[in-house]
This record gives sequence, structure tokens and C-alpha cells, in this order.
Amino acid sequence: MSTLVCIQDYEDRAKEVLPAPVFNHYVDHADEGQTMDDCKEAFKRYRLRPRVLRDVSNRQFSTTILGHPVSFPICISPTAGQQNADIEGDKATARDNVMPKRKQGSSAKKDANKEGWSGSFSHRRLRRILSRFGHIYQTCTKSGCTPLMISGTIACAKTAKSLDTIMIVSTGAIFTCEDIALAAPNAMLWFQIHLFKDRQMTRFCVRQAERAGFTAVVVTIDTPVIGSSRSMKRRTRNAPREQYRLIMPLKHSLCASRHLIFQNGKFYDPNNPEVRSAIANGDVALSRYSIEQIVTAETWEGIKWLRGITKLPIVVKGVLTGDSSIEAVQAGVDAILVSAHGGRQLDGVPATIDALPEVVKAVKGSGVEVYMDGGVRQGTDVFKALALGARAVFLGRPVLWGLAIDGENGVKKVLELVRDEFSLTMALAGCSKLDDIKASMVVHESQYLSKL
Ligand code: FNR
Repeated sequence: MSTLVCIQDYEDRAKEVLPAPVFNHYVDHADEGQTMDDCKEAFKRYRLRPRVLRDVSNRQFSTTILGHPVSFPICISPTAGQQNADIEGDKATARDNVMPKRKQGSSAKKDANKEGWSGSFSHRRLRRILSRFGHIYQTCTKSGCTPLMISGTIACAKTAKSLDTIMIVSTGAIFTCEDIALAAPNAMLWFQIHLFKDRQMTRFCVRQAERAGFTAVVVTIDTPVIGSSRSMKRRTRNAPREQYRLIMPLKHSLCASRHLIFQNGKFYDPNNPEVRSAIANGDVALSRYSIEQIVTAETWEGIKWLRGITKLPIVVKGVLTGDSSIEAVQAGVDAILVSAHGGRQLDGVPATIDALPEVVKAVKGSGVEVYMDGGVRQGTDVFKALALGARAVFLGRPVLWGLAIDGENGVKKVLELVRDEFSLTMALAGCSKLDDIKASMVVHESQYLSKL
């Protein structure tokens, strides 16, 4: 870990330790990946204008987000499939106290490939391979343990708690809201949902979050259909059936979780033992059903409906324009997360850092908070986003890299790395508190280039 000095190092190491199908799924993008790449590149188009000779000996970056105190404005975006980065060995292994050692480097990758990632393999084999990459948590969850205890989400939630920041739990998480809250008591957790066709299903999600003490609902609204990934199609087209089945749940893991227990056309309590065993046995109908629940005809009326059924603050995720921001305000949202879904939905939309100022301007005076995610990889990126009006930034893939390398500790290291870089940027730019970061301190490069 000591040689990992930036997020790119984490990504490179994660590529070595993760089985190729998992890594490829994480770096997947829509079409040509223009937006995914641009989200990172665009930050470089903004230049910093430091103020010198300021006392920066004490720097303070705690703030509030939707009224919750956080120790720094860097939070965790929802990513389905965290379990694939950090999978616990099965319960029996835990009982016998046989800790699978996480292998590092190319030897781990070689083993994974040797054991069938590139060929045909069984679920048991998959478990054996993946269990090498995980830690074992002795978390006792209320809804019990599936044979394969999967910890990625819980590792993230615990990190969010230990660092006093916010984590958005994906609908695709494998644990229920209640389990996550039990495993990471007092963590600041928000729950990401979709507006499902079946409103009862949506209501079920929201109630679950409320009961578990989550403090906001995040509605992803850039997904009227699931985006198309050419690289994913290429990988799966000629894959043997077994492999296809294993890869598909990675992509379509949306709701293949115990948040929503659906069987024979009905919802069940996640604590129902029969339903638990159906899920443990890999009931793929669940994820298929949830995909069908994505509504292509959804409108802002859906957000107004949601406003009417919950008192939790509502954050909409996936807004990129001023017009949509105004509609969001009118629909009664509390915050907007400017996001391009990590470049996985509509390719060709602007980089989120470029879209941010327009959104900030549109909601000015409404009291609606604005955050952003997409391509945030270093402290200067955080500084630029805050200067351009974001109250906080969220990290997607970097968290997965941390998880892959060292579970909970890895996520912590990733967040601390970006936080420390941000602190350094503040010092070098002459800021000792967040309020010192002004819009005038970040300008588009064209301002300099046009003078050349
Ligand atoms: C995502 N993202 C996502 N968004 C969401 O609203 N619900 C989800 O379940 C997921 N799942 C998901 C899985 C994976 C593997 C990735 C990479 C991304 C998008 C995510 O929340 C976020 O918007 C982007 O990842 C942010 O960009 P960076 O930080 O990855 O560049």
C-alpha cells in the first residue's frame, strides 16, 4: 500500500488483483467512453489562481451536507457490484478461522485466470477464486448470512462512519438497508433508488431506508433505459453460457439484492427464511424483474409523488443542465447530484465539472444543495469542484479500487488520500477554510490560452 501515492496507482493495482471480468465491468462505459474520459480530463482544463501570503497553518474542512456534519466534503457514490471487489469467505470458513489471504499483484491475477475466468467455471469455483480477494467480517446481520457473505458495501459503510462522511448505498447492494445500518451503526447513509414502475416497490425501498435510519433518498434519474456498453457486448457475445451468467449479474445487479424481495409476483419481507434461501440460491428472476421495472415513461411527476410519501430529503442524481435543475427545484427536491453516471449511460454528455456551473446558477437562491461526481481523482479536483459551486464531491470507481486492494482499510486510504491532497491544495492556494474557496480562484484555461 505504501507505494500507492495517487488514485491512478490504486486503479493500476486493482487491475492486478481483481479478476478481469470484475475490473472490466468497473471500467465499462457507454459507447466510445467519451464522457467517462472527459470527466477526468476536463478537470485539467481549469486552472487554479492561488492567493499568497495567507495564514494557512490551521486548515478546517468540516462542513454540513443536508444539515449533517461531515469532516470533509468528499463522499461515496453508489456503485452496484461492490461485493465483487471485496467478497467474504463463506461462513464455514469464518468459523474454522481459515482466513483467505488476499493475494497481491500479478500472481493473484494469474491464479484467477488459471482457474477459469477465461474459460468455463462453476459457481463453486467462482466462490473459491473470489474468496481469495476478500476479508472476513464477523458481522452478524439480522437477515442472516448467505453462503457467500459479501462485504463490499458494509466495508464502505464502516469507512463512511469512521471518517464521518456520507455513503450513498446503491439499490444494487447485496445487503438490506437494515443489515448495513446494523453493521455500521451511526454511519451517515443515503439510499439510492430508482422510480420503479411498480410504485409499491419504490415505496418499499423508501420505507426500508427510513426504518434503518438512512437520512436521505437519492433518486437516479439518468436511467430511463440501461445504457449500452460495447465493450460489455464484445466480452459476453462469445462467452460460454456459464461465464455469461456470471458476468451478467455484475452488470445487471440492479436490485439483485435483498432490498427487494420479489417472488411469484409479490414482495416479501427480507427476513422471510424461504425468500432468503431463494436469493442465496441465486434467483436471477429477481434481477430480471427489477430491470423491467425501469420506467421509460417516468417524468417529474414521479419525483412529486415521492415528495408526497416521504419526509426524507430527496437528492436527484444525474442532472446535467440548468433546465432540468429548475424542474428539479419545482418538483421539491432538496439537492442535486450533478452526475453522468460515470460515463455509463449517455455517451457524449458534458464532463460533470463543465456542467456544474450551469446547475449551480440555475438553482441559486432556492436553498437546493448541489454536489457532483465523475472523474474526481485528486485533491485539486475537489478544490475546483467546490470553487465552481459544489457543496461536496462523491467518488465512484476510486472507492472500488480501494475495496479491491484492501477492503475497508483500502477505502479509508483512498478517501484519506484525496482528503489530504485537498488539504494541501487549500494550503497552497491560500485557503484555511472552505468559505475561503472562491469562484474566482478557478478559471477555465481558455482565459489564459486566448491571451497567448
Ligand atoms: C455506478 N454508478 C451507479 N450509479 C447509481 O446511481 N446507481 C448504481 O447502482 C450505480 N452503479 C455503478 C456501478 C459501477 C461499477 C460504476 C463504476 C458506477 C455511477 C456512480 O454512482 C457514479 O455516478 C460514478 O461512478 C462517478 O464517476 P467516477 O467517480 O467513477 O468517475
